[in-house]
Amino acid sequence: MNAPIKKLADVLKAGTEYLAERNIEHPRLICELLAARLLNCKRLDLYLQFEAVISAKQLDAMRRGVVRAGKGEPIQYILKQTEFYGRSFKTDSRALIPRPETETLVEKVLAEKKIWSIETGRPLVVDVGTGTGCIVLTLASECPNADYVAIDTSADAIELARENAVALGLQDSVTLRHGELPEYVEAESARAIVANLPYIPTDICEQLPMNVRNYEPRQALDGGPDGLSVINVIAQDAACALQSGGMLFLEIGEDQGAAVTEILAANGFSDVTVEQDLNKRDRIAKATMS
Ligand SMILES: C[S@@+](CC[C@H](N)C(=O)[O-])C[C@H]1O[C@@H](n2cnc3c(N)ncnc32)[C@H](O)[C@@H]1O
Repeated sequence: MNAPIKKLADVLKAGTEYLAERNIEHPRLICELLAARLLNCKRLDLYLQFEAVISAKQLDAMRRGVVRAGKGEPIQYILKQTEFYGRSFKTDSRALIPRPETETLVEKVLAEKKIWSIETGRPLVVDVGTGTGCIVLTLASECPNADYVAIDTSADAIELARENAVALGLQDSVTLRHGELPEYVEAESARAIVANLPYIPTDICEQLPMNVRNYEPRQALDGGPDGLSVINVIAQDAACALQSGGMLFLEIGEDQGAAVTEILAANGFSDVTVEQDLNKRDRIAKATMS
């Protein structure tokens, strides 16, 4: 990135080489995303502007972004933005970056007709471990005829979720709370509880790729020695908070299906099923409160 570069095509090429030398995954994509932000255009529109001259100021900004990416910082944190279920979410080190597999979790919840029926009153839907708020704010956008509570033990995450709620115009639709489920949800009141809580075993956290390990909040990843500590607690708490017939949806690790099924059955849930993500990996546990 030191040569006197001026054209967009050259800037992209130099940035891509810089990142590739540092073994950063998807180096070209990262550079294109940075350049698109800088030039305030869609990524695909860059292809019409390869000959465009980049100003010294733009070049400096591009360099700063590429250097951060070269150190392993996720592009979603550098740009402070990511897409989830077709909406834009502010993303920074206060919370986990929303993942595509969590969109599958949201789809499963939306598909469950009995949750959304208003014949028996407005449903209360709770998101535990809300992070950026991507799950609850998507549900609230897609299904406005429900009451929503979102909870997180991280005050930082709740602040970020609140910023996202405001940006999406949903600040009056979702109640955001710092703490744990039993503090905010009365017994037998929720029709659905959705949770993507930490489920990675502590020793595996140490082996995660650098961009995850060094940048995303540990509190969002570490599920204790066997990865199931938080899931054990939520299964118990959700069993109290759900109405009879209410449903629990959990995102889980791909090798946790059998263990989570056992935990849910032991806490009085029935119809426990484990469903797969788009890559055919076990990813979602679904259960009904008896
Ligand atoms: C894996 S992140 C998921 C964030 C977001 N729901 C998503 O899908 O992108 C887990 C979140 O759960 C929060 N958390 C961890 N333990 C919790 C608990 N016992 N109760 C509520 N939130 C918890 C963390 O602070 C973190 O924000």
